[in-house]
Amino acid sequence: MSAQTLSLNISNAMVQSGIVHDTLPINTRDGLSLDLAEARRFGVRWAAQYDAADPYPHIVIDGFLPADLADMALSNFPSGTRASDVVYVDRPFEHRKRQILPTDCNESVRRLFDFFNSAPVLAFLEGLTGIEGLISDPYFDGGGFHEISRGGLLGLHADFRINRKLRLNRRLNLLVYLNKDWQESYGGHLEIWDKTGKRRVHRIAPLFNRCVVFNTNKDSYHGHPDPLSAPEHLTRKSMALYYYTASEKIYEETPPHRTVFVARPDDGDATKRVALKMKLKTYLSLPELLPPILYRSLRSLKHRMKRQGSA
Ligand SMILES: [Fe+2]
Repeated sequence: MSAQTLSLNISNAMVQSGIVHDTLPINTRDGLSLDLAEARRFGVRWAAQYDAADPYPHIVIDGFLPADLADMALSNFPSGTRASDVVYVDRPFEHRKRQILPTDCNESVRRLFDFFNSAPVLAFLEGLTGIEGLISDPYFDGGGFHEISRGGLLGLHADFRINRKLRLNRRLNLLVYLNKDWQESYGGHLEIWDKTGKRRVHRIAPLFNRCVVFNTNKDSYHGHPDPLSAPEHLTRKSMALYYYTASEKIYEETPPHRTVFVARPDDGDATKRVALKMKLKTYLSLPELLPPILYRSLRSLKHRMKRQGSA
């Protein structure tokens, strides 16, 4: 294959994979900070591309973190084992895979992962994906640093959909790769397959500071199913964060009301009157909780108080 053909093929692959180059405007001068509105705008800038991606919404963003922050993440990647390490070996779909909890790492790592759980990053993701009300996972269930050794793999899969601890719906994955000078021959590409799980659509190299975000739908098949062929001393490193939303059914489970203040026995009449009004307002906003006769009585009491107040 000529150099020109190779270049055309690479360029075509980049277009097909929807790879963009953009850096999240994180300020690293005083800890980690990111303006909420700016973060959302950053996400919105790529929203159309994300939504239109085939076979399910996703995006690949190169140069995602400011360079010093990406370097920090890599240089603080734990080299030794940690007490909380989860290691998978000799499973058909998970082999030589290590998960490292951020809470078991040094302060720099903990701050970085906490930042990924913070409101500005959620705002970026909401702008990008159009999914509002995103929630991060302070426990990093299944997330954190991931490391795959030579021969390791992660079979094609669709991710678990409910976080059982938090009882939340999983909606998004965010991955950041931390592999400098990664060679094509090392493998370890993230593969994105169609909704039938029969046809590979994209093959994304796990290059340094490359971020991939995708919807975790029931058929968002992905993985790196071929054994890693990197030299033994090189591992495939990444950060993995999962994001969730709550269920609308909360409104059925818990009748909502605003904060209700109550007066103490020694409070003055004015305070007691305000408290009574608030209580009436609360109950009247939830008629389904009251027997009709009580509801009508409370409504009548409210009107009387209103008349007295305006007299
Ligand atoms: Fe996954």
